[in-house]
Amino acid sequence: MSEHNRNRDRLLSEEVVTGFHLATVRAAQATIDLLGSGDKYEVDRVAVVALREALGELNVDGLVLVGEGEKDEAPMLHIGERFGTGNGPSLDIAVDPVDGTRLAAENRPGAVAVLAVAERGALFDIGPAHYMEKLVSGPAATELSLDLPLAANLELLSSALGRPVSDLVVAIQDRPRNAGYIAEALAAGAQVDRFADGDVERCLRAARSGSGVDVLVGIGGAPEGILTAAAVRALGGSMQGRLAPQGRREASRVRDAGLDTGRVLTLDELCSRDSWLFLTAITDCRVGGEGILRGIHRDNGVVVTTSWIIGAGINPLILVKRSAE
Ligand code: FBP
Repeated sequence: MSEHNRNRDRLLSEEVVTGFHLATVRAAQATIDLLGSGDKYEVDRVAVVALREALGELNVDGLVLVGEGEKDEAPMLHIGERFGTGNGPSLDIAVDPVDGTRLAAENRPGAVAVLAVAERGALFDIGPAHYMEKLVSGPAATELSLDLPLAANLELLSSALGRPVSDLVVAIQDRPRNAGYIAEALAAGAQVDRFADGDVERCLRAARSGSGVDVLVGIGGAPEGILTAAAVRALGGSMQGRLAPQGRREASRVRDAGLDTGRVLTLDELCSRDSWLFLTAITDCRVGGEGILRGIHRDNGVVVTTSWIIGAGINPLILVKRSAE
């Protein structure tokens, strides 16, 4: 067996899958008493601590390739941080202990604890980039391109799906930097799902049918872009990204790191090999045809979490975990 296949088999071992699942479960559990508190910093902090502790117990040689937090000076798993016992496969992760910290702090839908796992070297290294332009859709949208105007992409999607542009729902994060996209989508006659935060959940919906979102476009977090790419690859959806620094400081750091901001990155570049995604709902969220994933809650004194796990070649698994307090 080649080194590649050996690594892949070990990547998929039950122990590793269970361990990573537990990591997002613990991150979500840690936030339960802070939902609705208004304190997004504390929500993030407790999730980071819990997730880091869970990662430490895993029998892997792990590396945090893509972390998050630096742009907001929030608590974070540091890029380059090693984790695990070192006894096991060499894996890279992209991780966001809470995507949608404000949503969780305000107890609004769409906040998730999420991490993507792949063999070492398989995930695109965004280095110091904080922002990425994204175009995410389902498997039929193979011809869509970030190099085309949005109206042209919507025409292509309309033909691929056999539905008029006026039926299409375009998710766009509600930020001034995305105002042009919102105007273009409306001018083309499409419906706009303008969302406040939590673009991992929205990207996953865009990649799946039956989710109420047909395509996501616009500039959001770069780490969330890598998390999304790992999931979209496993799900068989389509995605492109392009680093999109906001401001001169980020632009010069990205340039100094040798990263190209003009180039469209294909899904194969964003995530080049099979990957897994582990997601635990902190507040209620939707990730596609399965309906609502119930956010963390108590049921007769027992803490209940709902997770969604995807890996190449498996149907998404929904796991409900009940833990006595
Ligand atoms: P966090 O909860 O991790 O802060 O991210 C929320 C989020 O809405 C992401 O989903 C999105 O990619 C990013 O923020 C966009 O960044 P910004 O809030 O700086 O526009």
